[in-house]
Amino acid sequence: MITRFSAPGKVILFGEHFVIYGVKAILCAINKRVFVTAESIQEEKIIIKSEIGDLKLDKGVLDVDLPLKPIYFLADKMLHGQSKIKGIKVTIRSEIPIGAGLGSSSACCVAAAGAISGLFSIKSKKEILALAIEAEKTIFKDTSGADCTVSTFGGIIEYDKTGFSKIESNFQLVISNSNVKHSTEKIVGRVQEFKKENEKEFSDFCALESDLISDALELLKKNDIKKLGSLVVQNQKLLEKIGVSNDTLQKMIEIGDRSSYGSKITGAGDGGCIYSLTDETNASKTLDEFKSNYECFLAEIDLKGLDVF
Ligand code: MEV
Repeated sequence: MITRFSAPGKVILFGEHFVIYGVKAILCAINKRVFVTAESIQEEKIIIKSEIGDLKLDKGVLDVDLPLKPIYFLADKMLHGQSKIKGIKVTIRSEIPIGAGLGSSSACCVAAAGAISGLFSIKSKKEILALAIEAEKTIFKDTSGADCTVSTFGGIIEYDKTGFSKIESNFQLVISNSNVKHSTEKIVGRVQEFKKENEKEFSDFCALESDLISDALELLKKNDIKKLGSLVVQNQKLLEKIGVSNDTLQKMIEIGDRSSYGSKITGAGDGGCIYSLTDETNASKTLDEFKSNYECFLAEIDLKGLDVF
């Protein structure tokens, strides 16, 4: 039996890092995907083939190579306590740049949770999301679950740790890559340190972010993209204050701010991508600003989320 599932990457429009501490975030899924094929095999093994490496192991192994650990975890968990399927081969192909703040790891967990669990029984998106978050926690224990949620359900969402709801809006995003790889876990750890040393300041930032997100939700619903851009700029400033930006990203933000409504980091920061908020009047001009020096593209909002292929 073979199952094939794909899941999209994401941009965090507002609220990364603060979402870990209970503040709401706004995210959107984008039209770049991870494709995962899962196959039941006769050999009693878990085999994973991907662009970032291959693996062939027995069941029940604990010290698995980090980037493939969540996928191994999913296969091992599903094989446990049943005798119908002996082994699983998983093949992963991705259009999402790795370590770039576009949610490649979460999309991979979501697509793999869909494909691997699909070998056993049809699962709801809600159950697949829970499996994906459990898998992601094997490499990043503090995840807020935001990235996996938007990858599973697609579209634009407002999210906090208690749940999410969808938002209707319309804009275009120019995404530019610094090509500096980052580790979400390390940066989240650094923010944790900042919070420990600056409790009062951090709590003030959380309050500011929370207000900013309430305003952003209003503007998104009215589709006032121009005013929304000024909130993007304010959110970026808060991220700079908690130390997740750097000189390379600042230079890119300045370029983006020339012709878009506002630019900011897309995820954990300290590398990876930024996004510039645009509409049809300034999207191609913004893209032109980046083209000669950066890998960049115009992203569309993905409405499907997890899907079969
Ligand atoms: C990473 O895309 C977003 C962070 O807020 C981490 C998380 O929410 O799990 C930095």
